[in-house]
Amino acid sequence: MPLSRRKLNHSDVLIIGTGLSGLAYAIKMAEARKDLTITIVSKTTLQENNTYYAQGGIAATLEKDNTSVAKHIEDTLKAGEGSCNVDIVTKVITDAPQMIKDLMRWGVKFDQTTSGKFLLGLEGGHSQNRILHCKDFTGKSIIKALIYQTQKHDNIQILTHQTLVELIVQQKKCAGAILYDQQLKTCYVIYASRTILATGGCGQIYQYTTNPTIATGDGIALAHKAGALIKNMEFIQFHPTAFYEPEKSRLFLLSEAMRGEGAYIINEKKENFLKHYNKNQALATRDIVARGIEQTLQTQNQKHVWLDCRHISPIFLQKRFPKIVQYLQKKHVDPSKSLIPIIPAAHYQCGGVVVDAHARTNLQHLYCLGEVAYTGLHGANRLASNSLLEAITFAHYCFKKTSEEYFDKKHITNVILPKVISSDHSKLYTLIVKEIKQIMQKKVGIIRSNQNLTAAKKSIQKIQEKITTTQSEKKIFQLQINHIQQLCFVANIIIKQAIERKKNCGGHYNIDH
Ligand code: SIN
Repeated sequence: MPLSRRKLNHSDVLIIGTGLSGLAYAIKMAEARKDLTITIVSKTTLQENNTYYAQGGIAATLEKDNTSVAKHIEDTLKAGEGSCNVDIVTKVITDAPQMIKDLMRWGVKFDQTTSGKFLLGLEGGHSQNRILHCKDFTGKSIIKALIYQTQKHDNIQILTHQTLVELIVQQKKCAGAILYDQQLKTCYVIYASRTILATGGCGQIYQYTTNPTIATGDGIALAHKAGALIKNMEFIQFHPTAFYEPEKSRLFLLSEAMRGEGAYIINEKKENFLKHYNKNQALATRDIVARGIEQTLQTQNQKHVWLDCRHISPIFLQKRFPKIVQYLQKKHVDPSKSLIPIIPAAHYQCGGVVVDAHARTNLQHLYCLGEVAYTGLHGANRLASNSLLEAITFAHYCFKKTSEEYFDKKHITNVILPKVISSDHSKLYTLIVKEIKQIMQKKVGIIRSNQNLTAAKKSIQKIQEKITTTQSEKKIFQLQINHIQQLCFVANIIIKQAIERKKNCGGHYNIDH
């Protein structure tokens, strides 16, 4: 049910998305600028976002010594394989302690020893333990604390179950958005002096993903339609260890932190096959581990491999990973006795809408935060648990800049609202979405080839043609058509940028290179 029916048709700030970045920005702005109205909209519930499902934690080097900071920078650059922006990497990692203080001030309780020392986790690609966490539900703890904070501010209005239909842009200036109210089944406008896109990534473009169903790349597609620049979309990061349940729309994650605590990955013959891929084996960076698994699945014609935790104390597993153990038990898998079936799944979009060091896009008054943005931090492959850090640091940088600015209350008056009839899901819509996901999984997944990329491009083109015919025959509702067009745009840009990338690096691996 929508959280609030209050609707302003002008809000000084409009934030689209309720993950860490959107909420952190809202709280900081609301605290500093009580004169401004702030509207936050979410596509479904407030909790349904990628942050909420984050298990591992937030990478942050809290020691003041230069060596530890330098190591975090070095690990990030190494994972990003030459595609990171070194200045951004240095700035984000150096600013991490301040961000952790903010989260704690807002009520996030990271795991500590009884003497008050942080318990730090380890994940792939990290040369030191530096992941702050709240057991295995860090994202949930963060979102819960931040929602509580946003509700304290009278100048924040929150609207749930709102679909972003279009960004309003005139003369390269963003002035808000057209939204669709899923309950009232109508479109309406929120004019805004500053629009913050924090819509997350596009994992749902793949058949196997750890992302919630809202992560369909709408922000990317609509920002591009409005004229924003998009970069590095071919670098889709696959998480190596999703629980094998092929029929599910969101696969349950088995945190990389489990491997940090000693779990390893084995094949059908019970071999630790990853030793053939990298000296760090299951704790190599995600691109290497996911690729090793995918190659094994393809050469051995297997459906999944296994995560092995049987040597880890059950008491420790229960204490450190309560949510994971509970989920597995529900599925009749006891991790201290049985092997856990796993497959890699689309997890994170390393590219996105190009932003500067203040989260500004090339369109005036349009900002991007979190996974939808390409900041230069992750390069070709994100270092595990650096994304929550990016989300909160860029929310801070964007706040610093915008909170000092003058907010003009004038707005465009000639916006034409599209006629949207309904948002019910027709059978045809469901079938087309499924087809797109299968194309992306089979032809634009972890291991790519020129032939497969070209075939995928043609298949997506055919879907676009089918949609045009369907549209004229009115077999499908306009919102669903918009959604399929957005999915096709995201698929196309991943394929196009993968074709253009002539060298393998990070998340992009083409057998023809
Ligand atoms: C995990 O817990 O493995 C996910 C962490 C991340 O994606 O950074």
